[in-house]
Amino acid sequence: MAVKSVYLVLFMFVTLFHYTQAISIPLPSGAGPESLVFDQSGRGPYTGISDGRIIRWNGLYSGGWDDFATASPHWTKDCIGSINRSLEHKCGRPLGLQINEKSGDIYIADAYYGLMVVGPNGGMAQQLASSAEGVPFRFTNGLDIDQENGDIYFTDTSSRYDRSEYEMAMLTRDATGRLMKYDPRTKQVSVLMRGLAFSNGVALSQDKSYLLVTETTLFRIQKYWLSGTRKGTSEILMVLPGTPDNITKTRNGEFLVAVNSPSAHALAMRIDGEGRIIEVLDVTFISQTISEVHEHDRRSAIIWATVLKYGRQKVRRVKL
Ligand SMILES: *[C@@H]1O[C@H](CO)[C@@H](O)[C@H](O)[C@H]1NC(C)=O
Ligand SMILES: *[C@@H]1O[C@H](CO)[C@@H](O)[C@H](O)[C@H]1NC(C)=O
Repeated sequence: MAVKSVYLVLFMFVTLFHYTQAISIPLPSGAGPESLVFDQSGRGPYTGISDGRIIRWNGLYSGGWDDFATASPHWTKDCIGSINRSLEHKCGRPLGLQINEKSGDIYIADAYYGLMVVGPNGGMAQQLASSAEGVPFRFTNGLDIDQENGDIYFTDTSSRYDRSEYEMAMLTRDATGRLMKYDPRTKQVSVLMRGLAFSNGVALSQDKSYLLVTETTLFRIQKYWLSGTRKGTSEILMVLPGTPDNITKTRNGEFLVAVNSPSAHALAMRIDGEGRIIEVLDVTFISQTISEVHEHDRRSAIIWATVLKYGRQKVRRVKL
C-alpha cells in the first residue's frame, strides 16, 4: 500500500510538471505556508505553517517533510495540524523566514512571538526582540537580511491587532504598523518607519541603499532610504492595482511583488526601484490568491502560492 502511494504521487508530479508546469507539494498537515527558504546546500523549502511548526522538505525519497523548528515556548504536540486561529497565541505562527547564508541560522518573524532565530539544526527558536520603543509587537510579519553584515529588516503589521484579527486591521484601515532594523552585534532594534497601514513584505535593494515595504491596505509600496542624501526619509514609490503581499528582489536588482486585485486576480508584478512596472503576469489560472513570487533564473519566475485544493492547502511551485 505504501509503495503504491509513492508511485501515485510520483506520477502526479510528472503529469503536473508536463501539462501545467506546476508542482504541488501537499503539506503534512495544517495549512497556510507563508514564506519559503532554501539553505546553502539547496535543501528545502523550509516553511512556517498554521500549527506553529517550521517544516523542511527533504525530497520525495528522503522522507518528505520533517519538523524543523518551533517558535512558541508554549508549543505542544496538541498543536499539530491546527488551523484554529484561537490557538495561534499558544502554538505560534511563523511568517517571514530568512537564512543567514554565512552562519546557516534561520531568522523567523513569528506573528505572536516576534523576531526569533534558530540554528542550522533547528529545534526551539530563541527570541531576539518582542518590542521596540516600549511598544510590543502585535503582528510580526515580513523579514529581509543583509547577507554582508547580518542586519535584519522586519515589519510589525500592527501595534493594535494581532494576526487572528487581521480583517479588523484591514477594515479599520489601521495604520500602526512599523518597519524596523535589528542589529545582531548590539542586539538593538531601531524603528525606521511608523504609522504604516498593514506593513507586510520588506525587501532590501541590491546596493543596500534603500528598502521597499508594502502597505497592504493602501495598495502601495513605500521606499525608505538607508544611505545617500535622503537617508532616513521615505516616499511613496507606487500605487498598485490591488493589495500587495510579499516583495522579493531579483538578481538584477529588480523586485517581484505578489498582488491580489479586487476583481480576484492574482498578479505577479516585476517592478524596478524607481516604481516602473516591467512585467505583469496574471496567474489567476493557477491560483486565486498569491502570497509570494521568487525568481528562479533570469528568464522565469517561480510562483509560490497557497492553493486551496481538496480542502487542503498546498505549497505550489509554478514555472513561467
Ligand atoms: C478553537 O480553539 C478554541 C480555544 O481552544 C476553542 O474554544 C474553539 O472551539 C476551537 N474552534 C474549533 C473550530 O475547533
Ligand atoms: C517575503 O519574502 C522574503 C524574501 O524572499 C522572505 O525572506 C520573507 O520571509 C517573506 N515574508 C513573508 C511574510 O512571507
